[in-house]
Amino acid sequence: MLVCSSAASRHKSLSTIGFARGSTYVKYPFSVCADQGNAPRHRKAANTNCSWWRAARSRFVVKALLERASRRFARLVTDAVVARPGAWRLLRPLFRRQWDQLAPTWEQLRRPDTFDPYVAGLNTLPEPPKRALDVGTGTGGGALEIATRFPSTEVVGVDFAVAMMAIAASKVTPSLAGRVSFRQADASSLPFGDGEFDLVAHNNMIPFFDEIARVLRPGGHALFAYSSGAETPIYVPPERIRAELERRGFSDFAYSSPGRGTVLVARKR
Ligand SMILES: C[S@@+](CC[C@H](N)C(=O)[O-])C[C@H]1O[C@@H](n2cnc3c(N)ncnc32)[C@H](O)[C@@H]1O
Repeated sequence: MLVCSSAASRHKSLSTIGFARGSTYVKYPFSVCADQGNAPRHRKAANTNCSWWRAARSRFVVKALLERASRRFARLVTDAVVARPGAWRLLRPLFRRQWDQLAPTWEQLRRPDTFDPYVAGLNTLPEPPKRALDVGTGTGGGALEIATRFPSTEVVGVDFAVAMMAIAASKVTPSLAGRVSFRQADASSLPFGDGEFDLVAHNNMIPFFDEIARVLRPGGHALFAYSSGAETPIYVPPERIRAELERRGFSDFAYSSPGRGTVLVARKR
């Protein structure tokens, strides 16, 4: 808790503002020194000698605004790329930079239930996949969920952000080394042959439908989880995913909304 050194005992505690949407959650020190009577809070703050408090407030505000901007950018890129996959070439460099910058703090920004819809989707699979791909794996959480759930599955995680891949790779313990690997790759042109995977999974990731259909074997499954449902910065509505997949020969769609998230699983015919 942040306290004012001149009035620690009278200082009110932190409160929270509404930046808990999507995958990020920011706490902001709204309280001011309690020695300022009943004047409006913003005026009290301006008059206070608590320079540390003003600095902390500025830092929190800047951080929250940057996070909000980055969430908006993620949604903008998602919408643009799903509508026009060709837009990816233009947006890619900036988007990749954003994720490389976010990598060191990514796990602090995520909520503890981030993977709940993803795991719920894994639980609907009729049998353990022999080989699974986690696309846009970030720091590797989804890939490790698959490896934990299915102890004989070989799992590959890909992400185009080098910094994300470095963190993911550091999680491959000796006991996982033969079975779990991470590789830097762009989901729009995956470095794998046709039909190599039984499962292609995404957690909060932009789907590249042509590549998903290509690398999945017939009878394999595609999984699309969004931790905060429609509030997730990277989000594609299930009707849109379904329409794209139907055009590519998928069927057996199973949609559910566990907790605050959503998940769609479909089978390639
Ligand atoms: C919202 S994060 C999700 C990370 C991870 N799935 C999780 O839930 O923690 C999106 C991730 O997708 C990656 N990404 C975005 N577009 C990509 C692309 N075209 N190819 C590979 N990775 C991509 C980003 O680098 C980022 O790590």
